[in-house]
Amino acid sequence: MSFPIAVLISGEGSNLQALLDTVHGQDGIEIVAVAASRAEARGLARAEAAGVETAVFALADQPDRALRDAALGDWLEERGARLVVLAGFMELLTPAFIRRFAGRIVNVHPALLPAFPGLGAIEQALEHGVKVAGVTVHFVDEGVDSGPIVLQESFELPYHRDIAATRQRFHEVEHRLLPRAVRLIAAGRVQVDESNPRLVRVEADD
Ligand code: GRF
Repeated sequence: MSFPIAVLISGEGSNLQALLDTVHGQDGIEIVAVAASRAEARGLARAEAAGVETAVFALADQPDRALRDAALGDWLEERGARLVVLAGFMELLTPAFIRRFAGRIVNVHPALLPAFPGLGAIEQALEHGVKVAGVTVHFVDEGVDSGPIVLQESFELPYHRDIAATRQRFHEVEHRLLPRAVRLIAAGRVQVDESNPRLVRVEADD
């Protein structure tokens, strides 16, 4: 069975690359579209190198966010995306877009939510001096990093903190956790509990 997904990016696209390398073309999962919020997003070249269709939906070109998101949604639907993956997409999507793809948008965030939502999560965690950090994949609702949690992975942070090495640690975990979540969703192993939509039931994958 085919499971077309779309990926939204704003920058480097290393999470997109992890998806291209480890889920694209496997178990029926196909990345059919990559959209960027900035023409300069380096991830666009990664998608093109993999033969995936790309487009840019920048507020610089269409400052009316409602119109921008409507056009983005049309483009994703035309390509048949069943799941929209936010992989370093650095903008908020309008409530209308979230409703249009309700329950079909996931995001990866470099913190153990609900701690440190929003921008600069890694810096926030370091400034706070946390001993345990982590990564969350969650469904997207109309809040900021507030939707139901699909997967989390934690790790300990050493006392002597080299910022670059610490960032690398977060990315390594992201590059494992996001593909795992996408595979589980595509396999129908992820269900939101109807009686309590905060709770997400995930069938074991190993
Ligand atoms: C990741 O840390 C992601 O969690 C955050 O932005 C970063 C994007 O990195 N939202 P990349 O573009 O996937 O390399």
